[in-house]
Amino acid sequence: MTNQKALEFPPGFVWGAATASYQVEGGVKEDGRGPSIWDTFCALEGKVLNGDTGEVACDHFHRYAEDVGLMAELGLPAYRFSVSWPRVMPDGRTVHPPGVGFYDRLVDELLDQGISPIVTLYHWDLPQALEDEGGWRVRDTAARFADYAAVMHGALGDRVQDWMTLNEPFCAAFLGYGSGVHAPGVADHGTALVAAHHQLLAHGLGMAALRSAAAPGQRFSLALNFSPVLVDVDDEAHREAARKFDGMHNRMFLDPVLGRGYPADVLADVAHLNALEPAILGGDLETIGTGLDWLGVNYYAPTRVTPLADPAVPSNCGLPGLRGFDVLPPRGPLTSFGWEQAPSSLTDLLLWLHRHCPEIPLVVAENGAAFPDTIDSDGRVRDHDRALYFAEHLRAVHSAIRQGAGVRGYLAWSLLDNFEWAMGYTQRFGLVHVDFETQQRTIKDSGRFYSRILANNAVPA
Ligand code: NOJ
Repeated sequence: MTNQKALEFPPGFVWGAATASYQVEGGVKEDGRGPSIWDTFCALEGKVLNGDTGEVACDHFHRYAEDVGLMAELGLPAYRFSVSWPRVMPDGRTVHPPGVGFYDRLVDELLDQGISPIVTLYHWDLPQALEDEGGWRVRDTAARFADYAAVMHGALGDRVQDWMTLNEPFCAAFLGYGSGVHAPGVADHGTALVAAHHQLLAHGLGMAALRSAAAPGQRFSLALNFSPVLVDVDDEAHREAARKFDGMHNRMFLDPVLGRGYPADVLADVAHLNALEPAILGGDLETIGTGLDWLGVNYYAPTRVTPLADPAVPSNCGLPGLRGFDVLPPRGPLTSFGWEQAPSSLTDLLLWLHRHCPEIPLVVAENGAAFPDTIDSDGRVRDHDRALYFAEHLRAVHSAIRQGAGVRGYLAWSLLDNFEWAMGYTQRFGLVHVDFETQQRTIKDSGRFYSRILANNAVPA
């Protein structure tokens, strides 16, 4: 790669890769870890493809040192991982030092290799004990989360600068309690809205706990998943369809954490469920809107919508309470997950965020693609489709920066092929291939490609 033909990123741009506890750790019974809602969900027939579970996953619990070695080989400056709440508090309340010990060792190993840890506190693996008390349906879970955040800051705050409270509350609330395709598998739209509010409250209470213990220079945030909306026709009906989807998918979570409360149009769209507003108690919006030091932006694909003739017909989008429009099938090229590859939507998203909240630095906290990789007879994984995906999306990030967006970093999803929730092990997102029979790791061609990009702080033009 010559510099003449490369698009350079700003000095100090943060490069890294991400994973999440339940997706990689395994070791679900090691050292007294308690069950999470995902252990319970995976055990139910028909919930996860092929009956897969996270029981072993990438066995990262035992192989973390080898995995940090791979990060060092790739030259990753930063690594985003999540803490398993039931590993450090098996009943959701009581600190379990052996569980904390795992993250102690992981952080030390990262720092020894010069890799900056970015800690996510909640990436969907709620302790089952708390789910048994109501899970995200009840406010108390938000208070429990704040206690847990304080415990983890107490354990790792001397070494970890960057913290995220929640990952994608949209998924944990709407897929977990709305459509029921994720744990705990509840399918009720009103409950999903209540769960979303309680997670946002957990974010706010967690931020307060983290901030009250903060060391100088520490940064606190969360990661939201965004899906820009595309329409085929620029008329009133299509704009209205886009507004509804955008409201529930994107602004519903962003505006409250920015301190702006829930968007009025979203409250109106879901008023007929009579669920969200009764769950909002005095002071909640102030707690939630405590402000962010940066925003984690997870982006995979846009969503296409079209209006329905009858505004009262429920939408096929599956989001709580939405009516009068449908989501259209994605258009090629697609990833193996069936997601549309649309790098220009990432540029649009980053520029929209820059206009919407210019004061907040942005970090792309997840972006990546699943493809059906194979290991060739010479031991290489020639995943050129994924390398191209990264190149195109990084050019898209670069374009947004050139147009003024304050993007400070990019974290590829994912370091390793891993347990892809309801899709089990069928969707490989890794920079590193994992053979789930032998646990052998192989850096893919896309991993080597990404490694050159971050070493040069530039993507080929
Ligand atoms: C977002 C989630 O945070 C992550 O857990 C998941 O694996 C990726 N999307 C891909 O679906």
